[in-house]
Amino acid sequence: AKLNVYTHETGAQLGDLFGIFFEDLNHAADGGLYAELIQNRSFEFDPIDHQDYHSLTAWEKVERGGGRAGLSVESATPFHPANPHYAVIDIQEPGEGVGLSNAGFNTGIAVKEDEKYLFSVCMRRSDSFTTPVRVLLEGANGAVCASAEIIADSADWQKYETVLTAGFTDTACRLVILAGGLGRLEIDRVSLFPEKTYRGRRNGLREDIAVMLADLKPKFMRFPGGCLVHDGSLNPDDRNSMYRWKNTIGEIASRPARRNNWGYNQTLGLGYYEYFQFCEDIGAKAIPVLPGGYDPHHGRIVPIDELGPWIQDALDLIEFARGDASTKWGGIRSSLGHTEPFGLEYIAIGNEEVGEPFFERYPYFHKAIKELYPDIQVINSSGPFAAGGEYERGWTSAREHGSDLVDEHFYQSPEWFLANMDRYDHFKADEPKVFLGEYASWGNTYYNALVEAAFMTRLEQNAHAVGLACYAPMLCNVGYVNWKPDMIWFDNHQVFGTPNYYVQKLFMNHQGDRLLYIDAENLPEKPEASQETVKGRMVLAAEKSAVSYRNITLTNNLTGEQQVIGESVELNDIEGAVSKEEELRSFLLGETDLRDYTLKWTARKTGGVRGFLIYFGMQ
Ligand code: AHR
Repeated sequence: AKLNVYTHETGAQLGDLFGIFFEDLNHAADGGLYAELIQNRSFEFDPIDHQDYHSLTAWEKVERGGGRAGLSVESATPFHPANPHYAVIDIQEPGEGVGLSNAGFNTGIAVKEDEKYLFSVCMRRSDSFTTPVRVLLEGANGAVCASAEIIADSADWQKYETVLTAGFTDTACRLVILAGGLGRLEIDRVSLFPEKTYRGRRNGLREDIAVMLADLKPKFMRFPGGCLVHDGSLNPDDRNSMYRWKNTIGEIASRPARRNNWGYNQTLGLGYYEYFQFCEDIGAKAIPVLPGGYDPHHGRIVPIDELGPWIQDALDLIEFARGDASTKWGGIRSSLGHTEPFGLEYIAIGNEEVGEPFFERYPYFHKAIKELYPDIQVINSSGPFAAGGEYERGWTSAREHGSDLVDEHFYQSPEWFLANMDRYDHFKADEPKVFLGEYASWGNTYYNALVEAAFMTRLEQNAHAVGLACYAPMLCNVGYVNWKPDMIWFDNHQVFGTPNYYVQKLFMNHQGDRLLYIDAENLPEKPEASQETVKGRMVLAAEKSAVSYRNITLTNNLTGEQQVIGESVELNDIEGAVSKEEELRSFLLGETDLRDYTLKWTARKTGGVRGFLIYFGMQ
């Protein structure tokens, strides 16, 4: 008998369903996506960030050829008050040069032969000091990879720039700043960027990591967190402050480095302007998450009658993204280099602030935003699934106040995902929509990835209720792991996608725009040939035993070329399905556009199938 497949229009639109979530944990920004190569560039590291940190973390004193100098950190008259510390080299004996070196991230500063690196620094000298300052990149064996000289002749703070061209490739360089003469040389805001950043932008992003993200073709990017949004004090001028977006724009020296929720110092060099720019560059809609005036970790709560500035932050951010240059915040954006608005459709208030103080404050934000910007979609927060009753509280609040979406988070076992495939089956289309703002099964194996793929098919199937979904966390530097699993792993010169990354890529690269319900009948008990024409992508997955597929063939309808993508696929258990998925992966994840193929297969049931999926993503 022929296996019949029927499709029906459901009327559901998939809209912006699949996107990405960026949070600076695992050194995702500093030492990661943010291309800055100097660690602790403004001498702001502090034990408040991390118990082992101090203002000279990653720096070392250098004394060459009989040179002698003191190295200290002062804060009396900084280059910019937002980052008050600076290094002082007090030269007692110049020898062949004295100064300091920076170790970068991971094994050091990674450079490539013949590529250019843009160095900048703020310096101030005492009157007695006239000799040029030498800037060197030294390789792992001490050989000079690049060098330049700067005439630092000002007794006032001055910014200096030079270009270093790498003489050889090395993944373990260090930057050395060497002075001669006698007297004091004061140094702050030391920065080294590859000239090649993503799209060549200044203060830009590491190209290899950014390309991996762009390749996903996400519909949106949620940022900047995560717990780091609501963690911190209520004073925006405090280094321990909650994440306040206005602190993250403008000249990098004016952005106050802050204690990050994840136990390290965050420079904010990757800030809101850069986030919006990156979203625009990769065609993703920006979804900023703002603190709702409540830190659930430390019980810090903004009194209701002092919520004004917090709400104003949200309104000003919308103007920053959408206002033309004649508006206050649109004008600031324009002065930073982006004359045209970035655009903004969504804004999230709070991240996992499950607690009554949040739900008391949320309505004030919601009302103020909707009054000025009725078309902005406002996202409420329901927190992590494990929070039980409080989880439901987010939904009650969302229904009561008319939130457009509710942010839910799942970090669970693969078995949990399989058992909860149906979570959204009964959600209603006329209620606030789900924003699955963080989800992952615990692991980066093919098994995890396949389970997530199966779960994503159900998110698509429930597009009437699920508006947005993104895997989390996105990035992890192998040398600074706060959290596992993660979608993309990297060190200072390499980047790898996990199987979970490739599943996300598969779904985002072939994201549909409308939902078709697929019905199959006559699945034969014995092997028999079937033939259907499909458009889109295919994922095979079985939930426990057992289906057997034979001779799965794809024919290119344009060229007539045939490709066997699975001679014999026994989905006897989910582990088996995973290894078969690996076999199919090279085809499924290739660049091939699946829209013009006919799929043929032979299938039979070989055991008690509880559920199986043959998934065709429609374009
Ligand atoms: O993704 C890691 C963390 O998990 C996020 O910061 C938080 O929102 C969640 O608990």
